[in-house]
Amino acid sequence: MHVTAPRAEHRTDPLGLGESRPRLSWTTATDRPGWRQSAYEIEAGTERFTAESAESVLVPWPFAPLTSRQRVQVRVRVRSAEGDWSGWSPPAAFEAGLLHPADWSARFVSPPADEHLLRGDFTVRQAVTAARLHVTALGVYEAELNGVRVGDHVLAPGWTSYHHRLRYQTFDVTGLIRPGPNTLGAILADGWYRGRLGFEGGATGIYGDRLALLAQLELTFADGGTRTFGTGPGWRCAAGPLIAASIYDGETHDARLEVPGWSSPAPPPDPATWRPVEVVEHDLATLVAPTGPPVRRTGELAPVEVLTSPSGRTVLDFGQNLVGRLRITAEGAAGERVVLRHAEVLEDGEPATRLLRTAAATDVYVLRGGGPEVWEPRFTFHGFRYASVEGPADPGLVRAVVCHTDMPRTGRFECSDPLVERLHENAVWSMRGNFLDLPTDCPQRDERLGWTGDLQVFAPTAAFLYDCAGLLESWLADVAAEQAPSGAVPVAVPNVLGERSVFAAAGWGDAIVLVPWTLYRRYGDAGLLERCFPAMCRYVDHVAELAGPSRLWTEGYQFGDWLDPAAPPDRPGAGRTPKEVVATAYLAHSAGVLARAAEVLGRDAERERYQALAAAVGEAFAAAYVRPEGTVLGDSATGYALALTFGLLPEPGQREFAGRRLAEVIAEGGHRIATGFLGTPLVCDALTEAGQVATAYRLLLQRECPSWLYAVTMGGTTIWERWDSLRPDGTVNLGEMTSFNHYALGAVADWLHRCVAGLAPAAPGYRRLLIRPRPGGGLTRARAALRTPYGPAEAAWRLDGEQAGEQGGELDGELDGELEVTAVVPPNTSALVHLPGGEPFEVGSGRHRWTVPVPAGLPAPVSVPVSVPVSVPVSVRVDKATD
Ligand code: BGC
Repeated sequence: MHVTAPRAEHRTDPLGLGESRPRLSWTTATDRPGWRQSAYEIEAGTERFTAESAESVLVPWPFAPLTSRQRVQVRVRVRSAEGDWSGWSPPAAFEAGLLHPADWSARFVSPPADEHLLRGDFTVRQAVTAARLHVTALGVYEAELNGVRVGDHVLAPGWTSYHHRLRYQTFDVTGLIRPGPNTLGAILADGWYRGRLGFEGGATGIYGDRLALLAQLELTFADGGTRTFGTGPGWRCAAGPLIAASIYDGETHDARLEVPGWSSPAPPPDPATWRPVEVVEHDLATLVAPTGPPVRRTGELAPVEVLTSPSGRTVLDFGQNLVGRLRITAEGAAGERVVLRHAEVLEDGEPATRLLRTAAATDVYVLRGGGPEVWEPRFTFHGFRYASVEGPADPGLVRAVVCHTDMPRTGRFECSDPLVERLHENAVWSMRGNFLDLPTDCPQRDERLGWTGDLQVFAPTAAFLYDCAGLLESWLADVAAEQAPSGAVPVAVPNVLGERSVFAAAGWGDAIVLVPWTLYRRYGDAGLLERCFPAMCRYVDHVAELAGPSRLWTEGYQFGDWLDPAAPPDRPGAGRTPKEVVATAYLAHSAGVLARAAEVLGRDAERERYQALAAAVGEAFAAAYVRPEGTVLGDSATGYALALTFGLLPEPGQREFAGRRLAEVIAEGGHRIATGFLGTPLVCDALTEAGQVATAYRLLLQRECPSWLYAVTMGGTTIWERWDSLRPDGTVNLGEMTSFNHYALGAVADWLHRCVAGLAPAAPGYRRLLIRPRPGGGLTRARAALRTPYGPAEAAWRLDGEQAGEQGGELDGELDGELEVTAVVPPNTSALVHLPGGEPFEVGSGRHRWTVPVPAGLPAPVSVPVSVPVSVPVSVRVDKATD
């Protein structure tokens, strides 16, 4: 029995915790089958706490609350059901951040005329044993101490609803402090705080018009004494090489203006260039510690091809649509310029910058001259696969640096069809590109906003692929903070679109209910559910009021089943499913989920109230929109998918009818996609539940447009916004809303995990797994592996004829006429196993293997030729090492 070092909340690094009572989680590794924990003991410093308990995920902090800055070594041991104790886990050093506004003696300082270099000088006269830098900015910042970059965060402090919540970071800088003179410096840029945000020109200065830095360095000396040095009146600022930095438009850096030694004690600041800063006020009560990991540079790609465009430009192809920026190596005379333009696709051989709308996405480097110069922008990011390079930079030495929130990768999927694997990989890349501090719709054009509906549908997939609990916890706090008193939720959070965007939109606003529920199901975090609960109720109450006594939600603007392929390109909301069907179905669903949340939280009154509401809305839906036999108004795939998965078909026979009709509708459409943002994530589940798995597979494996694999065969390396972002003739969709990196339609990956491979949560946090593979579609094998909160889990299957042992190295030989299913069930959990043709049964932790006869009616495995049209560049070089 080996116990991992305890984790604090959803943090990957327990330095600067914002919780005074951080909940603890650990996992136990053991070979003993059916292992259960019967007790745990936590040691924090000199204190110990023992509990007779099987809990190991997010267990309550049993000691006195941590005080600001308090550091304590925490370790855990566990007792098995047989009664023997494990050894102690390795210790984790939990350290609280600054928990109260009064802990800050530093003041926000602002450069008076947009200078972007700031510095403060101080002297250290005693040996320092510990040094912590607590730091944030109005804007984005990078800190340096004595000429050395502090930490490796990108675009800190990240983007939150700044007027409610501003994150600060805590760094251990003990190793950077020197005896004698020291200098703390920071570079500031607009970032999301002051830069341009929003489409149709957007707005600047949404949060404020002055950049500012707040930095508090706390030193602990060998004799136990402490000293604090923070931003305040003595600080100075100077202009420097940063000419412009914008999230949308890119960065311009003039290396001739660099100030050597700007963050070092020598030379001391020349008062002629270093002017005094101004102290500005900002509400310290908005400061919060991070709940998840920071944005980092997580990988690097070299160009796979250097092209010359028809107009003669040098264009680099990185073979992968990604988010980040370029690092260049340039050599030339002082004042020469390198200009970098970014694009996701080529149009007529040229970078398709029109898709970026008003985002310039252009970085400019002005050379200092005199030798090779290496440069990478600091305060911007782009979504691109291609980049044009003008000027004296060596194209072969350019690297694309991938940036996103540095979440632990937790989930993987494999199967026998390379196109399906690439589809899954595309969903992974779209998540990487759009989980840059918060969940966004797209990463490239003048948008990049926290659209609620996109995340609502993608959250289950996201929660499998990466541990995104901490990131989404922060975003949900913003969603709640920005909820209107009416209960309406901005359609994108943080809200930079203004009042016009604060309205209930079905499938979008419901994120406030459905995302916390998803996180509860996937991570077992009931505390988060509790915190979100009042906001969840406010939203459902608001929508119930909009629906009124009819219980049908027919009023107000709706996005509907956004981007149904049948909708005209310029009217993405005009799909074939009536908007009132979508809206009323969502109200019933959210009310039902809220009732379940109330039950988890032991709130009986609310449980009864929302159960009754869900039932009433369900009845109204059935009465108004469902014919007695089961036809749903509109007769669309999305209508049936909603009615089936949200349980809105109460009469006998209606479900069967709707399932059959859904399969027929899809067949009538040639097994092509007939659903948009809201129907697509549900359609395969609806078919599966209705016993129409074969149709689900036909939909999955379709390659004609519109379909999931169409984009793959067209060389897509991320999930597209439109089913035909690239059209069958190879031309780019003319719609002015055409992104190649929008994760919403990639939500089918969740079905791949749960139903194709067969790994789903049967209890919150995967405390109990559901292993239920549904072989089909000619696939010969599939496998899903997930690092659950309890440890690694896996479900895999293969049909005879597949060389076993190739995947996990567990098995040898070939199997005949059999379906072999293997599973890994983490210690302290169990699994409900449902194999084709059999009755469900329960197993304990450990490795399992079963063989059953190949289910009747399963189509014979077919070999799937992978062909890709030659008109589209497809060189795919996936940086596997980084995930
Ligand atoms: C965004 C979406 C979003 C939609 C809602 C678009 O501009 O990119 O993904 O959900 O608007 O209308």
